[in-house]
Amino acid sequence: MNDKRTQMDYKQLVDLAGKARKFAYVPYSGLHVGAALLCSDGSVYTGVNVENVSYGATNCAERTAVFKAVSDGKRDFSAIAVVSDMDDLIYPCGICRQVIAEFKIPEIVVGDRKGSYRVHKLKELLPHAFTEF
Ligand code: THU
Repeated sequence: MNDKRTQMDYKQLVDLAGKARKFAYVPYSGLHVGAALLCSDGSVYTGVNVENVSYGATNCAERTAVFKAVSDGKRDFSAIAVVSDMDDLIYPCGICRQVIAEFKIPEIVVGDRKGSYRVHKLKELLPHAFTEF
């Protein structure tokens, strides 16, 4: 591994995303989503969905995590985990996939409420992308 990904396995990342979920601001959908973004330096940024009465102004958990990290000067990432309180795995929306592509986050870990997860490559979730990554 050329980064510190091995210092934190994906199970831990999924757990952190799951814990973050309680801070979700979801008065409209009621769906709590948490994300945990693993930076190449080993640091982790969490994020939650933050909804708005003007629905389009809602920010998803994944983008919150990415924007927090970028605002802190981080640019290199290893993986992002996303977890909701649904029984099924949750997959990032199209806008989040494009943001994940912008920062070339190579692996996306999708989890369910019980902590099961699957790992996907960015290329799987955003094939034929507008930009190279
Ligand atoms: N949401 C996320 O935070 N991440 C996803 O991957 C999909 C959807 C949020 C947006 C909104 O607050 C709620 O889930 C229902 O769509």
